[in-house]
Amino acid sequence: MTQKLLITGASQLITMAGHSEKPAVKDAMSDLQILENGALYMEDGRIVEVGSTEELQGKYDVSSEEHIDATGKVVAPGLIDPHTHLVHAGTRENEYAMRLKGRTYMDIMEAGGGIHATTRATQEASHEELYEQSIKRLNKFLLHGVTTVEAKSGYGLTLEHELKQLEVAQKLGNDHPIDLVSTFMGAHAIPMHEKETPEVFVDRVINEMIPEVAKRNLATFNDVFCERGVFTPDQSRRILEAGKEHGLIPKIHADEIEPYAGAELAASVGAISADHLLRASEQGIKDMAEAGVVGVLLPGTAFFLMAEFAQARKMIDAGVAVALSTDANPGSSPTISLPFIMNLGCLNMGMTPEEVLTATTINAAHAIGCAEEAGSLEKGKKADVTIFDIPNYLFLSYQYGMNHVDTVIKAGMPRVVGGQLV
Ligand code: NIG
Ligand code: FE
Repeated sequence: MTQKLLITGASQLITMAGHSEKPAVKDAMSDLQILENGALYMEDGRIVEVGSTEELQGKYDVSSEEHIDATGKVVAPGLIDPHTHLVHAGTRENEYAMRLKGRTYMDIMEAGGGIHATTRATQEASHEELYEQSIKRLNKFLLHGVTTVEAKSGYGLTLEHELKQLEVAQKLGNDHPIDLVSTFMGAHAIPMHEKETPEVFVDRVINEMIPEVAKRNLATFNDVFCERGVFTPDQSRRILEAGKEHGLIPKIHADEIEPYAGAELAASVGAISADHLLRASEQGIKDMAEAGVVGVLLPGTAFFLMAEFAQARKMIDAGVAVALSTDANPGSSPTISLPFIMNLGCLNMGMTPEEVLTATTINAAHAIGCAEEAGSLEKGKKADVTIFDIPNYLFLSYQYGMNHVDTVIKAGMPRVVGGQLV
């Protein structure tokens, strides 16, 4: 039996049409392609037609259960979070309290806390425990309108435990309505006991972990934390080049805490995205625009680490395709709220309400290589749709810290109705 769904009466139907091949840059980031009194018809998980309510109403034979009246609401593509550390064990509220008394993120990490603390907890956790903790987070993402999530490993730091994280992500992707896109991030930190011999660990990432992850098809991307005191630009380059040889596409945590030529490296290594970029240089921004590297900005991290925000305005004006993400993780950004990230994008990074929507839909899709399937409401694409109970899209970044999600449809199936999981 054909599975059908018709949405009508949307006060604004935000299609984001026209950017499936290339991300939106500059003025195109403000072009949301909105239909007023819009309608959308889906069949078997795919979008069949997008148009006005007059055009679509009555054209398709649907029962009342197969019809959603979105009068007075905003219909948008399901949101996409292109950078998370979804699969991990435990929390680090103690470090948050320490930072409020003056300790810094990096000094806590150097003393064995930070990423190392979550690594210990993740190594100790079973597949089942990691699955249980992570699926709760995925449910919250869904409740906040998100239908695709990128998830990184990087709290295992040994082959066994990195594989465990990636296997849990794979199972979550199979079991949960949200689509998961996996990134291997064995180069997230140098294990404490190998601090004095970083090259030994880098060799292990290159020769042991990358080939095995690729062989088992457990990741699409390969990410590295290129930061002073973690991986140098030279080590990062070698790790990313090694991934490329095994078919893993490069991503970089770049210029997060200090300027470190991470943006430049992203451009020269052909990364699909460079993420964070709080301290990216002028040259790095220029290089990224020229090379077509998506800039994934994570203002939740700057907010939570009380750091300077990335220069989104400058990047957009320079022609960088900007995407936004939560960076969901227990240390530097413990949130799953992409709508809150939109507020921060506007209020702290000089983005407009239109740009933050582009950055959390079609440009976010480009940052994780799924723009052919997701990120816009266009014929033939996956029917991933979020309905917000607001009269116009400005409310998304105007009323902050609120969840306006009414309905989430994933691959044509309602998964959140009236703000509740179904
Ligand atoms: O994106 N910068 C490195 N990794 C994460 C933080 C991970 C953690 O603190 O547990 C980030 O900020
Ligand atoms: Fe991160």
